[in-house]
Amino acid sequence: MKKRILTGDNPTGKLHLGHYVGSLENRVKLQNDYKTFIILADMHAFAYPKYISNPEVVSDSILEVLMDNLAVGLEPKKVTFFAESGIPEIYELGIIFSMLVTHNRALRNPTIKDEIREKSMGDNYSLGFINFPILQAADILCVQADLVPVGEDQLPHLEQTNEIVRRFNQLYGKTLKEIEGMVGRVRRLVGTDGNTKMTKSLDNCIYLGDSEEELKRKVMSMFTDPNRVHSTDPGKVEGNPVFVYHENFNSNKQEVEDLKNRYMKGQVGDVEVKEKLFKALNEFLTPIREKRVYYENHKDEVKDILALGVKKTGEEAAKTLEVIKQRMKLPRF
Ligand code: TRP
Repeated sequence: MKKRILTGDNPTGKLHLGHYVGSLENRVKLQNDYKTFIILADMHAFAYPKYISNPEVVSDSILEVLMDNLAVGLEPKKVTFFAESGIPEIYELGIIFSMLVTHNRALRNPTIKDEIREKSMGDNYSLGFINFPILQAADILCVQADLVPVGEDQLPHLEQTNEIVRRFNQLYGKTLKEIEGMVGRVRRLVGTDGNTKMTKSLDNCIYLGDSEEELKRKVMSMFTDPNRVHSTDPGKVEGNPVFVYHENFNSNKQEVEDLKNRYMKGQVGDVEVKEKLFKALNEFLTPIREKRVYYENHKDEVKDILALGVKKTGEEAAKTLEVIKQRMKLPRF
């Protein structure tokens, strides 16, 4: 029997290049070898004040994120897509698992702590926000996944999932199996503004569905080496977003080497480097964009993919929940 993957995204806007190198690329590569489930985690999105008060953003994003996944090459015949809110068993498991985690442990999750700080939440976060990783454990374990490809920031959540697995097994006998995480080839992709992370909240993203014009505008106004004033000044390539993207998305390695060498010697201007980057990124994004347009014009097909996936996942989740309830001696009525 094939091993299983469960991974996914919170539907809070379209996916970008950071998502691609962080997780999507691995999903595409592994879809033949694993039975893959992709979650559109709409309840997770409501952990954030911004989305609990704008539910239409979340509901609109479900299909957008699903189309992004299809556009990069995930095949609906092989992959099961589902919305978290379509699987009430996840909510049940989430409550059950929350009984296995101490309050203090939940507050010690480093990603949760970082987000509270970065988003200046103070002590105005919801109980659901702290429960975020525990709900994520329910997502993962409801289909009894083996492998979870994610961005680096998600690793603490996977650690918490495994703690829940161990605690459950210790209390009720071996029932659940531990999962393995997998991070992408780029741990954290720099934003177009030079910030260390490409993220929607900083408006420094190149989206998978960006048009050629948007792409050109973004690339031509990207940050480069802030200390380089004239094109004849020797420039720095490490951490320079233009070169980070060249390295990750330009398939012409010789061109990249040549540009890097000339840049370091002050023999090439930013404009030439950016024009070549635009060309390379456009080549990379064109087939993705085209596939996306196909699905935008065939929304019924996308909705059917989701409906079928919810049905299939629901069957898996019901089986898991049944076993868990038995082990916990919860009565049946
Ligand atoms: N929390 C993830 C994120 O913020 C999205 C997500 C929800 C997820 N449930 C998951 C990822 C289960 C992997 C497995 O990106």
